[in-house]
Amino acid sequence: MTLHSSTYKPEQLDVHFSEAQLQARIQEMAAEINAAYPNCEKLIIIAVLKGSFMFLADLVRHIKIPCQIEFVRLASYGDGQTSSGTVQAVDLSLPSLTNEDVLIVEDIIDTGLTLNFFMDYLTSLHHTRSLKLAVLLDKKEARQKDVRVDFSGFPVGNQFLVGYGLDFAGYYRNLPFIGVVQ
Ligand code: XMP
Ligand code: MG
Repeated sequence: MTLHSSTYKPEQLDVHFSEAQLQARIQEMAAEINAAYPNCEKLIIIAVLKGSFMFLADLVRHIKIPCQIEFVRLASYGDGQTSSGTVQAVDLSLPSLTNEDVLIVEDIIDTGLTLNFFMDYLTSLHHTRSLKLAVLLDKKEARQKDVRVDFSGFPVGNQFLVGYGLDFAGYYRNLPFIGVVQ
């Protein structure tokens, strides 16, 4: 389904997580991450685009560990509201991760297909020192592939969420809160 700008109505969204709720939880998550890497000299953070850009930007402001930030771009939803079931690797270019502490940052885990693919890809090509995963939202009920989530922001039900990086057909990513399309 395609969303046209005439049907773009952020004022009709139900707020699911307010800006204040998101910011408070993200500060807590950053504290959990800081505590999980004592004496770490360098953390390589890999954010999965596009959806994670806002979460990443707010999270890393509170990370005290010296870090390097990398991006990959994966796609699985197309223009719809359910996962297409296939993961498209749009851009997987990364530096060497040998013996590095690596933290993946993702907006939402749903079926788990995207992160299962990406974790398998990383572990088959790179011998990292450690590999952990931080997700802002976890749609546990929808899981089809088992993925270990190390840092999780909020559990969410099986509903389609938008805002704060999450899109519907490309729209709504700029909203500072997370909402549900009615
Ligand atoms: P999987 O199913 O592979 O999905 O775990 C991960 C990717 O799917 C997108 N996704 C959503 N995007 N609202 C969105 O805007 C949602 O409720 C939603 N659920 C999954 C997202 O890109 C994520 O990286
Ligand atoms: Mg995503």
